[in-house]
Amino acid sequence: MSIPNEIKIGILGAGGKMGMRIGANLKKLSNEIFYIENAEAGIKRLDEIGIEVSAPTAVMGQLDFLILAVPDLYINKITTEVVPDMKSDAIVLLLDPAAAYMDQVCIREDLHYTVIHPCHPALFKDQPTLEGYHDHFGGISGLQDIVSTHWKGTRDKYELACDVVREMFAPVDQIFEITLKQMAFLEPSVVEVCGLSLVSVFKELVEEMDKRGIPKEAGMSFLLGHIKIELAILLLGSNPASDAAMIAMDYGKDKIIKADWKKVLTDESLNEVLAKMLKLDKNSAQAP
Ligand SMILES: NC(=O)c1ccc[n+]([C@@H]2O[C@H](COP(=O)([O-])OP(=O)(O)OC[C@H]3O[C@@H](n4cnc5c(N)ncnc54)[C@H](O)[C@@H]3O)[C@@H](O)[C@H]2O)c1
Repeated sequence: MSIPNEIKIGILGAGGKMGMRIGANLKKLSNEIFYIENAEAGIKRLDEIGIEVSAPTAVMGQLDFLILAVPDLYINKITTEVVPDMKSDAIVLLLDPAAAYMDQVCIREDLHYTVIHPCHPALFKDQPTLEGYHDHFGGISGLQDIVSTHWKGTRDKYELACDVVREMFAPVDQIFEITLKQMAFLEPSVVEVCGLSLVSVFKELVEEMDKRGIPKEAGMSFLLGHIKIELAILLLGSNPASDAAMIAMDYGKDKIIKADWKKVLTDESLNEVLAKMLKLDKNSAQAP
């Protein structure tokens, strides 16, 4: 499927981190794009690249496709404000599963909802260009995959949403369709609760190397090279580690990791961390 020319696309939060990235790619399409942003800093960033901001009240009723590039924390309040003004049969695209999983999105039965999240260019993915290897986030030249959920609405609109997503995050390799709950398990449970917290330990290791006077370049090269081969050994089975290295690994795991760490992978833990992230415990997330 290709994107029909008449489809009007709106980016809500166009001056934010994702909005700026997505806008730069969607600008290449022949479709009419509306950039919606309410913060002074965001409006200035858009102005610097020659983009004029639209008022939501002026455009919401015309849009066929609305991208929610706003903080997850405010999605409840923002969608409650804008979704009632949308035209029937339009598509709403969410860039993160948190708000959808926690029932924070204003739903209309006559709209279509897709949730996606970029995988970012994966460590061992072959990149067709050298620039691709340097685009760590993706969306510029780094080939990446996307995970997506056909959340609500018709299948053809979900497929159209995937076509737009290919342009938003280009170059895109595969779009993997998974459930909303699986996506919420991946983010935050897998990549933030577990992944980012473990990587924060690597960051502290860098500080520890520094304290011991290890030259930064040498320490970083040693650490990053070893992280790469250790991932290849344990996740890809590329070649076996030495017996002594496996003894050191078990020693470290026993000292560093709590025996019951997999509790963070339960539904209860997912609800708990998402409630914290969306500040639902305080029930007071006010959009700026
Ligand atoms: N930043 C990332 O690395 C990343 C990666 C993947 C997915 N996401 C998802 O993308 C979405 C946006 O995140 P972000 O990091 O770009 O947020 P951000 O805070 O960088 O940008 C959000 C923008 O929305 C604007 N905004 C807020 N309320 C608004 C309103 N009522 N009307 C118009 N504009 C409004 C803000 O001024 C800001 O410019 C979230 O769902 C997030 O989970 C972010």
